[in-house]
Amino acid sequence: MKDAAPQTIYLKDYKPFGWIVKDVSLRFVLHPTETRVFSTITFSPNPDPAAERRFFLHGEHLKLKSAKIDGNPVSVDITPEGLTCDVPGCDFTWEAEVEIAPAENTALEGLYMSNGMYCTQCEAEGFRKITYYPDRPDVMSTFTVRIEGDEPVKLSNGNPAGQGDGWAEWHDPWPKPAYLFALVAGDLVNHPDRFTTKSGKDVELNIWVRPGDEGKCAFGMDALKASMKWDEDVYGREYDLDIFNIVAVDDFNMGAMENKGLNIFNSSCVLASPETSTDANFERIEAIIAHEYFHNWTGNRITCRDWFQLCLKEGLTVYRDSQFTSDLRSAPVKRISDVIDLRGRQFPEDQGPLSHPVRPESFQEINNFYTATVYEKGAEVIGMLNRLVGDDAYAKALDLYFDRHDGDAATIEDWLKVFEDTTGRDLTQFKRWYSQSGTPRLKVAEDWADGTYTLTFTQDTPPTPGQPDKAPQVIPIAVGLLNPNGDEVLPTTVLEMTEATQSFTFDGLASRPVASILREFSAPVVLERDQSPQERAFLLAHDTDPFCRWDASRELARASILAMIRDGAAPDTAWLDGLERVVFDDTLDPSFRELMLAVPTQSELAQNLFEMGETPDPDAIHRAVETLRQAMAERWADRLPRLAKDTWVTASYAPNADQSGKRALGAAVLSLTTRLDGGAAAQAQYDAADNMTLQLSALGNLIRAGKGDLAVKSFYNQWKEDRLVMDKWFGLQVGAAEPDQAVEVARALTRHPDFDWKNPNRFRAVFGALAMHHAGFHRADGAGYALLADWLITLDDKNPQTTARMCSAFQTWKRYDAGRQAHARAALKRIMAKPGLSRDTSEMVSRILE
Ligand code: PHE
Ligand code: ZN
Repeated sequence: MKDAAPQTIYLKDYKPFGWIVKDVSLRFVLHPTETRVFSTITFSPNPDPAAERRFFLHGEHLKLKSAKIDGNPVSVDITPEGLTCDVPGCDFTWEAEVEIAPAENTALEGLYMSNGMYCTQCEAEGFRKITYYPDRPDVMSTFTVRIEGDEPVKLSNGNPAGQGDGWAEWHDPWPKPAYLFALVAGDLVNHPDRFTTKSGKDVELNIWVRPGDEGKCAFGMDALKASMKWDEDVYGREYDLDIFNIVAVDDFNMGAMENKGLNIFNSSCVLASPETSTDANFERIEAIIAHEYFHNWTGNRITCRDWFQLCLKEGLTVYRDSQFTSDLRSAPVKRISDVIDLRGRQFPEDQGPLSHPVRPESFQEINNFYTATVYEKGAEVIGMLNRLVGDDAYAKALDLYFDRHDGDAATIEDWLKVFEDTTGRDLTQFKRWYSQSGTPRLKVAEDWADGTYTLTFTQDTPPTPGQPDKAPQVIPIAVGLLNPNGDEVLPTTVLEMTEATQSFTFDGLASRPVASILREFSAPVVLERDQSPQERAFLLAHDTDPFCRWDASRELARASILAMIRDGAAPDTAWLDGLERVVFDDTLDPSFRELMLAVPTQSELAQNLFEMGETPDPDAIHRAVETLRQAMAERWADRLPRLAKDTWVTASYAPNADQSGKRALGAAVLSLTTRLDGGAAAQAQYDAADNMTLQLSALGNLIRAGKGDLAVKSFYNQWKEDRLVMDKWFGLQVGAAEPDQAVEVARALTRHPDFDWKNPNRFRAVFGALAMHHAGFHRADGAGYALLADWLITLDDKNPQTTARMCSAFQTWKRYDAGRQAHARAALKRIMAKPGLSRDTSEMVSRILE
């Protein structure tokens, strides 16, 4: 059956469902191509006068075998989206039997198979591919699930309710929307543990994996227990079932999913061992485990009324997992990393054709709105709210939120109301952060007269699709003032900007201060500050706020690279002098020093040039960055060996902040050293490496030095049986390739026997790396665009969701010159012209082309 013509859904059209679902009972008889799903659902008319009166159940790609109401067969009207039928005006029981074919489900949504194992993915609208149901988040119900099949392990949500030969039953006592339903069945082994909650409840914990992966669960389990404890300590939230299961799956479109009591993870986001995972993998796994666990309260117990409210659970849960990581590791390092990510992913989205509000007002395919804007900007908005009301009021508001809305499908209005009710603030203007898209630009002017220092800010948000005019937003601007001798005369203070232009004065100062502005990156804005290089260098040397200190260096780096590109200038030695004092200061945290050593990404530099009205040339940007890195290496040649030594770890491997910071700085040093020694140090590190972090950074440097051939082969032979390590092998070869080689390398890898393009991780390993290779992807002859388009066209038939997400590689195409634009447009048009293109991809491509 073909998908129907795309339809646009609007927030303003929301209506409650006309029935309340009191209980759901499901029975699955598993079979790869003929799974039977029997459902028994009790419906009761919804007394809400605003509710929709049509009885419509979603259902897609289902073979209906029978349908009954109160035991009597009924005739139904079936469309590609679902069914309607006549129903009684009172409570009734719906029974249906449908047949589905999980082995043929390559979209990985609904019930599908991965390496012989059955699993499900229902968010956002996948439950309708399992059976007929009002598949919308505001319909919440208790579920009882019986699974029949030969698979040794059979799991679903909630608590176990019995099992026997060939069957298992589960009961979830907490009403939940269908998108949180999950089922897993297969030949799995568990890594068990237990956790006692603060009120003394004993909870069984399991991480389920394929046999052979048992050794990669311990870290994830520790992260889970740490998350459970943290949510009790910091948010007062306790776990609410007898059991908590996590399952690792190899074929998964996203990172992980918070199904009630049965989280399902992309295996790359849970399996870890020192030999096969990098420090960055460990940190990400810890954060994702926490994220999915935290959803139990922010997402599951309090869910979203409709999918427009997605940021209600995602923004808040990202905010919570970032607090968790800050507490467990280094808060400044986490903040700087999050800003790098925001500027690298969310800003381009917010400033390009895909720009949409944190709470969108319309969509065709909701899967296209699991974006950096909803997640990361959504979290920034909560961070601003926290900053504006203060930590105590934030904690009170959250307690009220949990009290008032536990068990609800809530909205952003509900969320803001708890803050209004706890603080007495009017958040009407603040709410624009949810409705206005685009990144505000914040200009700042300074004045100094008679001991009074004045900061005047002007905010302006450029037009975005569908939003030509913007109103001023509430911007918390954290500032500090420093004396010319470097002493802080005003500690961090949050200024609350509400007008388009607004001044703030500071008096009683003995001398003109230097302002440190937007400390901790207190708002997701672009700060436009005309500041002298001397003042920036001063902040780089003296700022007490680590983010602003880092950002001062970043601005100097940017200015230097832009001058190199435009005027062929030499690297800015004054900046390098200042940077040197930080990078070689061994009293500072190594991971902070590593962040200081990194220069802006090439994509970010392209965006900067574009914003200044210039046309970025990816090759020129690449050359300038190369020249700068070479200059750094030569300048510090004598001191690098010493610095490298400082980063050695003698203790046995642990993926903690301390060790991983050292290894990160060590990797940065190695990349400079490799420019001088042609790969000797990298080869030595490769040969001696006993963990993946060291092995992979050595391999990358060998490839970049043109000495990678042997190591690439030996790495393959060592790791060819490990899918997750092979993903790294595929990705790194593309990422480390020369700009004129990246496309050829990617193309060659697609012909490798291990290139399983139907596996999203493997597809992303190659094409995600290509899209991230700025000069390689944006090659002048359009070969990068063409290759990606070819493969997106191929993948769309099998997996629309992953195809659509990968389309965002094209979102910056209008930055570039006419030649590149023509190639990109041709590639996008070619995708658009594909017969039978999915709704997912068609929505993305048409938005990007507009
Ligand atoms: N809700 C999942 C998460 O935390 C993301 C997800 C969305 C996974 C859709 C699968 C499908 O954040
Ligand atoms: Zn989430």
